Amino acid sequence: MNILGQSITKNGLLLGLFAIVTTGVIAGTYLSTRGLIQDNIRHAEEGALLELFPKSSHDNSMLDDALSATDSELLGLREAKKLYRATMNGEFVGAILPATARDGYTGDIDMIVGIKEDGTISGVRVLSHRETPGLGDQVDYKKSHWVDGFLDKSLSNPEEAKWAVKKDKGVFDQFTGATITPRAVTKAVHKALLYYAANKAEIIDATAKNMGEQQISTDVGMQR
Ligand SMILES: Cc1cc2nc3c(=O)[nH]c(=O)nc-3n(C[C@H](O)[C@H](O)[C@H](O)COP(=O)(O)O)c2cc1C
Repeated sequence: MNILGQSITKNGLLLGLFAIVTTGVIAGTYLSTRGLIQDNIRHAEEGALLELFPKSSHDNSMLDDALSATDSELLGLREAKKLYRATMNGEFVGAILPATARDGYTGDIDMIVGIKEDGTISGVRVLSHRETPGLGDQVDYKKSHWVDGFLDKSLSNPEEAKWAVKKDKGVFDQFTGATITPRAVTKAVHKALLYYAANKAEIIDATAKNMGEQQISTDVGMQR
């Protein structure tokens, strides 16, 4: 083999060795941090749930007491999402429902709606959206606390016709120059209440049986 051939072989071997070592380092880093990343995701998820059902209101781990909801009609879901339950001394105290408003100004608005056992709202948080900064993005709790307008509301408070923004003769504020986003969120929250009312017995029953994460089946879309 001439000098050029030897050089190519040597560099090829070095390159191969380098690739193996690099892959090993990346794999090692991934494996050693995987647990930490999962812990952080779980922590963030739990933080959002605790904003709607604070620690004083329940004694279970909501993250470990979840159903899988798939309803597209009332919850607007495009894929299965978790529905969390809160219990105190084994008694059901409320649930956190996933909901998607499909009629935002710029597409889907994903949210969670906390509903107490008696059907009143304990809180709403928008988890992801693409609404316009300075206009529709006030549904995001980081930008404004507009969603607090839903606190303690229920299917009977206000009455059905008033579950709308003020521009549509309802009771909820819209934003200056932006009605489409708050209208979409208001509709989605109301539909989440309807879903809860239609599925309450099954949600509570699953809690009582303490069956952990599972899928349950009803007329309106949760599946076993
Ligand atoms: C560039 C641009 C971005 C807009 N973004 C939003 C938005 O994120 N949310 C929203 O409700 N309206 C947004 N609007 C305003 C809507 O087009 C609409 O005029 C407003 O929501 C009032 O709706 P209404 O006629 O149903 O009351 C935007 C308008 C423009 C021109």
